[in-house]
Amino acid sequence: TIYSITSLILAYLLGSIPTAVWIGQAFYKVDVREYGSGNAGATNTFRVLGKKAGIPVMLIDILKGFTATNLAYLSILGMPSAVDSHSVVFTNYELALGITAVMGHLFPIFAGFRGGKGVATLFGMVLAVHLQAALLCVIVFIVILLLTKYVSLSSIVASFTYLIGVTFVFPVSVRSVVIYGMCICVLILVTHQKNIERLLHGRESKVNLFKKKVA
Ligand code: G3P
Repeated sequence: TIYSITSLILAYLLGSIPTAVWIGQAFYKVDVREYGSGNAGATNTFRVLGKKAGIPVMLIDILKGFTATNLAYLSILGMPSAVDSHSVVFTNYELALGITAVMGHLFPIFAGFRGGKGVATLFGMVLAVHLQAALLCVIVFIVILLLTKYVSLSSIVASFTYLIGVTFVFPVSVRSVVIYGMCICVLILVTHQKNIERLLHGRESKVNLFKKKVA
């Protein structure tokens, strides 16, 4: 319907908001893509500009995924009343919208199609769809981060945690959720190719959660 098309477009535009680039340019006159890992994401904003910039970027990027996913309520307007927020159709809309926002984040129309790796935005989607799985992912992410200091590795492990979570820990009745879970793992592996290479060669940068940096 016109509502589902509109919500998909909105989801892409929302995801396209290049938070890291805009916050860096507006407050520090810096394009974070020219420093650090070159990624327009929360991690690289932390790395290049410190937590004052990194935290808002992270929160806004999560919010993009969360809001886009909730556009599912717009998608089902005008549909038969059987299609409510507990239906399989609704969950599929949520996931499709979340992934569309992630595509916007990866390829932002507002920043020359050079965006981030999708971790925070994906997390926003998971938060909207499966609160329990989201919490499990956060715990695993934090544990891996504290143990290894590698954000990329924590992100990769967290994406597999989501798949394991929806498959075995909190099994969901909607089968496509598992398919989406697999796609998310592949997506994260693809966006983290360079990180994986650096991890394998021991060249990946570690985070220092307590140090302040200004570019
Ligand atoms: O937020 C993405 C993270 O997993 C890796 O970011 O900048 O270290 O490549 P970065």
